[in-house]
Amino acid sequence: MAISNTNSSQTMQQQIEKRLAIQHLRSVTASLTTTAGSDVVKGLTQTPKTLPPRYFYDDKGSELFEQICELPEYYVTRTETAILQECAREIAEITGKCEFVELGSGSSTKSRILLNAYQNLGLPLRYLPIDVSAGMLENSAKQLLFDYPTLEISALAGTYELALQQLPKKQLPSRMIAFIGSTLGNLNPQECEIFFLQITQALHSEEYFLLGIDLQKPKHILEAAYNDSQGVTAAFNLNMLEHINWLYNGNFDTTQFEHFAFYNENENQIEMHLRSLQQQTVKLNALNLIINFARDETIMTEISRKFDIATIKQQLSTHDLITQKVWTDPNNWFGLLLCQLQ
Ligand code: AVI
Repeated sequence: MAISNTNSSQTMQQQIEKRLAIQHLRSVTASLTTTAGSDVVKGLTQTPKTLPPRYFYDDKGSELFEQICELPEYYVTRTETAILQECAREIAEITGKCEFVELGSGSSTKSRILLNAYQNLGLPLRYLPIDVSAGMLENSAKQLLFDYPTLEISALAGTYELALQQLPKKQLPSRMIAFIGSTLGNLNPQECEIFFLQITQALHSEEYFLLGIDLQKPKHILEAAYNDSQGVTAAFNLNMLEHINWLYNGNFDTTQFEHFAFYNENENQIEMHLRSLQQQTVKLNALNLIINFARDETIMTEISRKFDIATIKQQLSTHDLITQKVWTDPNNWFGLLLCQLQ
C-alpha cells in the first residue's frame, strides 16, 4: 500500500514536470553595461537621495509585501481581485484561445481567476509567468500544475525587459500580456513610455495587453494605504536598508531612519521615503561608498502613481494599444483595461 502510494505520487510528480519549463534569463550585454550596485551608488550620491524600488524585494520584503496586500487600509489588491472576479469570463470570451503571459506573477493568486475563466470556457491553458524570484516562480508553478491538470507552464525567471525580448515560441493562436496590480505606477513617466514600447514589440497585431491601474482618489484614502496602522508598510520600507546592508556589506542602522509617505497632489503620486533621524554617516564597504546624511534628510524609495482612465487610454493609443474594454469597481478606485495592439 505504502509502495503504491509512493508510486502514484512519483507519477504525479513526473506528469507535473512534463508540463513545466523554466527558463533562467540572462542578459548577454549586462556585464558590459552595468556593475552590481551602480544604481545604489548613483542614487545615494545625488541630491535628493533615491534608491530603486527593486531593492524592496528580498525574501523578507516579498513576505512583507504579501502582508501589505491583506491590510485593511491597502484597498488595491482586494479591489482588483473583485474586479477580476466580475470580468474574467468576459476577458476570456474576448481573447479566445490565447497564451496568458503575466509580468511579475509573484504567487499567481490573481492569475487563478483568469485561468478558471479560460478553463470554464473549455479553452486550452498555457501560462507564462515572469518573475525575478526563481524560487517563488517554481513553487507557485508546481502548485498550479497540481491544481489544473491540463495547464502547461513556461516560466521565465528574470526581469520584464529580458522576458519580453525572449518570450518562447507561441503555441496558441494569440497572446495576452497581463501587467496587473498597478505595478505600472512604480515606473516614472519615462520608464513607463519605454515599458509600453517593450510591450508593443513583444506583441503581434491583434494580440492583447491587460493592464491594472490604481486610480486617483481622495488624499486621505491614499495616505492611509501607505501609512497603515500596523506598521507593515514602514517595516517593508525600512527592510530595504537591511537588504542593502546584506548585499553590499553596509551598516545602515534601521533604528535611525523612519518611514515617511505622502500623496503629492501635483504629480498624482504617493512618494515613499526613509527619513534620517539624525546627522549620520553610513558605509557600504562592498561599494567603497561613504554616505553622509543630514538630520531629516530623506531617501526616496518609491513612487506609486495614481492614474485617470482617459489619460492612460490616450497614452496607450499613442503606442497603438487600443482599449477594447474598461472595468472598474463601484467606487472607481481601480481600473482594469483590456487593450489590443492595432
Ligand atoms: C507593487 N506596487 C504596486 C505597490 C504599490 O502600491 O505601489 C508597492 C507598495 N509600496 C507600498 N505599499 C505597496
